[in-house]
Amino acid sequence: MKIVVTAGPTREFIDPARFLSNPSTGRMGFAVADAAARRGHDVTLVAGPVALKTPRGVKRVDVVSAREMNAAVAALLDAADSAGARVALVAAAAVADWRPARTSQLKLRKADMKGVLRLVRNPDIAKAAARRRPRPFKVVGFAAETGDALCGALDKCRGKRLDFVVANDISRAGSGFGTATDEVSFAFPDGSHKDFPLMSKRKVALNIIKEIENED
Ligand code: CTP
Repeated sequence: MKIVVTAGPTREFIDPARFLSNPSTGRMGFAVADAAARRGHDVTLVAGPVALKTPRGVKRVDVVSAREMNAAVAALLDAADSAGARVALVAAAAVADWRPARTSQLKLRKADMKGVLRLVRNPDIAKAAARRRPRPFKVVGFAAETGDALCGALDKCRGKRLDFVVANDISRAGSGFGTATDEVSFAFPDGSHKDFPLMSKRKVALNIIKEIENED
């Protein structure tokens, strides 16, 4: 199967010296790409700005903003459709939900910044992929939550019409941004879930790929 994986943060520039972003390191997405390649899939990572080595056997497209990430994913899904290939998208990137309405080409002076930052929504990459026709074989999302992770994950799963969402309570020890481990659940649109104990991101990634391979 062709597997496209988004990973890392996106950057939304305000001016040449400032951007909006988040603490994602890309580790989860890179682990998913690695696990998928080891299981023999044809894998492309679409990566935001991260400091990670490309896993062996994985193709990589580097992007900066959410709109660039969206365009890169759409191009890869178009190519898979043209080739008549079965394709899955794993949306592991922490995409910035908003971007400045305008990016200034000149550096803004701090005295001029008060009240000037108007935000507009970025495209939702996972949601757009799940609405494509033909629909990809599987579209998988992530939900990093503080509190009831399963509830937030189920909302995202249904709202974006995903096949399942990997729910992660980032307020729990050992789970979240930059950690080597995660304690996750898979939330399915029918309300069912699979709960896993704390394990390495590498093992979480392998479980995600096995779930994607599942035909039923
Ligand atoms: N996602 C995406 N494109 C976006 C935003 C999110 O593909 N523009 C994907 C992420 O890769 C992840 C999932 O959607 O798989 C996260 O959902 P999202 O609703 O963005 O999560 P939050 O920003 O945490 O949402 P909220 O603040 O509403 O809880």
